[in-house]
Amino acid sequence: MRPHLRKLLSTGAPFVYSMLKCMSLVVSRPDLYLWSSLMKATTNLSGQVALVTGSGRGIGASIAQKLASLGAAVVVCGRTLSHLEAMVSSIRAQGGEARAQACDVNDLASVEKLAAMVEQNFHRLDILVNNAGVGSFAGPLHEMTPQAWEKVLNTNLRGVFYSMRAFVPIMIKSGGGHIINISSLAGKNPLPNGAAYAASKWGLNGLSYSVAEELRSRRIRVSLICPGSVDTELGPHDGKDANKMLKAEDVAHVVAMLVAQAPQSFASEVLLRPTEKP
Ligand SMILES: NC(=O)c1ccc[n+]([C@@H]2O[C@H](COP(=O)([O-])OP(=O)(O)OC[C@H]3O[C@@H](n4cnc5c(N)ncnc54)[C@H](OP(=O)(O)O)[C@@H]3O)[C@@H](O)[C@H]2O)c1
Repeated sequence: MRPHLRKLLSTGAPFVYSMLKCMSLVVSRPDLYLWSSLMKATTNLSGQVALVTGSGRGIGASIAQKLASLGAAVVVCGRTLSHLEAMVSSIRAQGGEARAQACDVNDLASVEKLAAMVEQNFHRLDILVNNAGVGSFAGPLHEMTPQAWEKVLNTNLRGVFYSMRAFVPIMIKSGGGHIINISSLAGKNPLPNGAAYAASKWGLNGLSYSVAEELRSRRIRVSLICPGSVDTELGPHDGKDANKMLKAEDVAHVVAMLVAQAPQSFASEVLLRPTEKP
């Protein structure tokens, strides 16, 4: 592609691309550079700060990468520091801004310490993605240990409460923002042998709808993403065709769509299914 067109596309609005395409001045299958330029032209998160819980691997890692690629300074957190440090290196190698801090969402003091770091270093928070979660799909509820129940509920539901308790005041001071809670289609349907997981996600949905109403007047949108099977370490994916399952990047793409909305627009829930049943 001609250099002056590249420059125009990297700084211009999407209509410029449409116009040029009509005039056949752009190759019919635009390269990756063009698409990333267009994405940046339409969604520019420069100056914004994002925090993604459970972002050392899996869906959270993809979300952190995506938000950083759109210009946000991203705080990555989770329990395994080595994963977080690898994420920061990877984001920085691609020209993004990132910072890591270990945090266990089961531990209020740990979450509050993270909030203090964000306030001290960034003085704001614009995007909070509550993604950290654990599964438990070993058998029927009556055979589940109380310890296993607590791990699932304390991470997937109480962890989001702790996160909101710690970070919402910073977001209010920042003048608004977007909270995205990663739920599941298991929060919409029954899940035999995964009752505690389903309960945690049904609970998360109720929590999210309610807090969304509490925070609308503060210009904070609280959205839910409910994905079906995603190809990560979290199960149960036995007997499923990984090629048909969602990829972590698909969830990250929806996060990017949500934060790209116009200020007056609030998509409160996205149900994300694999195109073909895996
Ligand atoms: N995979 C699916 O099919 C699927 C479908 C629908 C929804 N989801 C939801 O998507 C979210 C991410 O799942 P995933 O598939 O990416 O799972 P994953 O690959 O197992 O990753 C889970 C992430 O959460 C972190 N984490 C777990 N417990 C934590 C804690 N107590 N404190 C802080 N971080 C914690 C993990 O990091 P550390 O272990 O280092 O802490 C890891 O980064 C979860 O909420 C899950 O319920 C997944």
